[in-house]
Amino acid sequence: MRLKNKVAIITGGASGIGYAAVKRFIDEGAKVVIVDIDTTKGQGLAAFHEMRGDEVSFVAVDVSNRENVDLMVARVIELYGTIDILINNAGITQDGMFLKMSEEAFQRVMDVNVKGVFNCTQAVLPHMLEKGRGKIVNTASVSGVYGNVGQTNYAASKAAIIGITKTWAKEFGRKGINVNAVAPGFTHTDMVEKIPDEIVERMLDVISLARMAEPEDIANAYLYLASDEASYVHGHILNVDGGIMM
Ligand code: CAA
Ligand code: NAI
Repeated sequence: MRLKNKVAIITGGASGIGYAAVKRFIDEGAKVVIVDIDTTKGQGLAAFHEMRGDEVSFVAVDVSNRENVDLMVARVIELYGTIDILINNAGITQDGMFLKMSEEAFQRVMDVNVKGVFNCTQAVLPHMLEKGRGKIVNTASVSGVYGNVGQTNYAASKAAIIGITKTWAKEFGRKGINVNAVAPGFTHTDMVEKIPDEIVERMLDVISLARMAEPEDIANAYLYLASDEASYVHGHILNVDGGIMM
């Protein structure tokens, strides 16, 4: 019970890595708020977990929309009275070779992956500052650390998350807020489904563990950084990538 009675918001919690984290956090005693743009999946999962007696709620939100985000945070405060943990996990790709990438594809990825994290954290942080305690975990990516063919927009957004994480660690460390990020490697979720087979083969060649991550591998890293075991880990980017580059 590493998160007993902690209130955790997990953005993008209706699928993939986010949902693996929802399950992991419930098992560790947290009250979990699934925040996702996918209403059908989110409502279904919340109903399923409520039936099992888990403390889970769903709020439909597009994280790139500040009004949506502010309403979501107000709702969480109304439901639970506090917020202990924010997992900024929602993210999208719109891959394309640079010269063929549209301005819209660049902008949408930045809006969700960067502005979404800005919005959620700016809305949640005052509640954490009020009690002088809180955990923020962002989601970077190997693409933001090393770059990746076809991902100008996405790599830019995830590199931005690394800079943002270190900046917030410096701004809010002395106010009792822990800020870190996980940089996942290629992970079995809907996001990697679109990668052509021959490119997946090439990727597996450069992963030391010779396999993609499972969503649970990444959820475990979120759990560690959200728990008190990581109290002195701060401003850190935790690579969970099977040893892509060392
Ligand atoms: N490494 C080296 N070369 C690559 C490459 C790679 N990873 N990917 C593509 N190329 C090369 C191709 O071999 C091709 O070379 P030639 O011109 O010599 O034939 C050239 O780049 C253009 O590639 P395509 O013919 O595939 O171009 P396209 O316009 O049809 O498609 C693309 C471009 C959409 C980017 C497609 O290649 C693709 O989907 N690539 C995968 C992108 C990717 O890795 N996405 C990761 C998604 S998962 C994720 O993002 C999670 C995370 O955080 C890691
Ligand atoms: P996924 O596509 O399985 O899940 C993403 C979830 O975010 C979905 O439920 C989706 O509905 C939600 N979402 C998308 N846009 C949203 C928005 N505007 N507002 C609210 N919710 C939104 O993706 P996956 O793989 O689980 O990715 C989770 C995070 O991990 C993302 O930030 C991704 O960039 C990152 N990541 C993923 C890797 C992978 O290989 N799968 C590797 C490295 C990082």
